[in-house]
Amino acid sequence: MVVFDLAKVTVQDIEVGGKRVLVRVDFNVPLIGGEVKDDTRIREALPTIRYLLNHGAKVILASHLGRPKGEVKAELRLDPVAGRLSELLNEPVIKLDQVVGDSVAAAVATLKYGAVLLLENVRFEKGEEKNDPQMSRQLAELADLYVNDAFGTAHRAHASTVGVADFLPAVAGLLMIKEIETLTRCIDNPGRPLVAILGGAKVSDKMNVIRRFLQLADWLLIGGGMANTFLAAQGCALGDSLVESERIAEAKKMLEDSAKSRCRILLPEDLLITREIKADSPYRIIGDGAVEEGWKAVDIGPGTATRYSRIVSEAQMIIWNGPLGVYEVPPFHRGTETLARAVARSDAYSVVGGGDVVAALESLGLSGEISFISTGGGATLEFWEGRELPGIKILQEK
Ligand code: 3PG
Repeated sequence: MVVFDLAKVTVQDIEVGGKRVLVRVDFNVPLIGGEVKDDTRIREALPTIRYLLNHGAKVILASHLGRPKGEVKAELRLDPVAGRLSELLNEPVIKLDQVVGDSVAAAVATLKYGAVLLLENVRFEKGEEKNDPQMSRQLAELADLYVNDAFGTAHRAHASTVGVADFLPAVAGLLMIKEIETLTRCIDNPGRPLVAILGGAKVSDKMNVIRRFLQLADWLLIGGGMANTFLAAQGCALGDSLVESERIAEAKKMLEDSAKSRCRILLPEDLLITREIKADSPYRIIGDGAVEEGWKAVDIGPGTATRYSRIVSEAQMIIWNGPLGVYEVPPFHRGTETLARAVARSDAYSVVGGGDVVAALESLGLSGEISFISTGGGATLEFWEGRELPGIKILQEK
């Protein structure tokens, strides 16, 4: 069992003035046509960056973007991110074209205290994802202090999230602390009833978090592609729907376990099915009964959406990860939209993690109605599973 109440040293607990500070941020943001489409992660990193600048540190920012796997990919350079950061900070941001090396060391040497630069995408370096000590050392040599503010990447043990802490004192940024405190509160001291909503395509990504919520939550509402594997475990025919056959036995066991747990798992009682996942493709709603060959389930049906919304309306705390249908292809967005409206209307403390649901809430203009939007996707899920995330483990304790 992970002990979550070990307080971490933060940037505010130590002297940062006159120091070169390497800050790992998660600027893995969606880009469209070379523009930042959603700058939430950049905005959330501003408090730490501003704190360090105002206290006279040299700020050296490091982030990944996408999965270039050790190759330089022009479309994954961080220039658009630097541009957006500069607008938000209202300060110039020097953007380098390298991650480590002599030119980077020279740029850091000439950087003024109270100024900020952004290294190139750390995943252009082969050593990053291998957590190569040589890369960690090269990054560490740029700085006197390491700050991890990249909660969204805290589940990755890479050179810039973990290895670098072997060579520098490592403390938490303000976003990191906010995420740890809020997400811990949800699992340590939840309001009841606690309703967890889990969706997304694959059940294999969510098995551990489901097990954890069976102990923690009062209701577990399941939708999205992952619901199909549970329905298959109950003997339903799913036609051409996405089903992870190798997980059916595990799903069946989980449904049996839920009967003995405090938590009730609900599965869709009706489904929206189509032949083709394409905008405005014809669809049908089916209640009980089989999905025929040639058809696939792509959303929860309206009956399920109404039932789930009613349970949400009675919650004191709501945790949500993963859309309930193929949200990005209308009309298969309706289940997610109905639940988004129910969560937004509810007086419960609501916490949402994962880019898809956050994007859905944003597009509906509802994100302001959510109590806490986590910047993590996979990291938030692993945190809720009760795992100690490597990028948090390396931070000094008070
Ligand atoms: C995320 O978007 O979840 C984080 O930035 C981590 O990205 P990754 O899954 O490519 O490691």
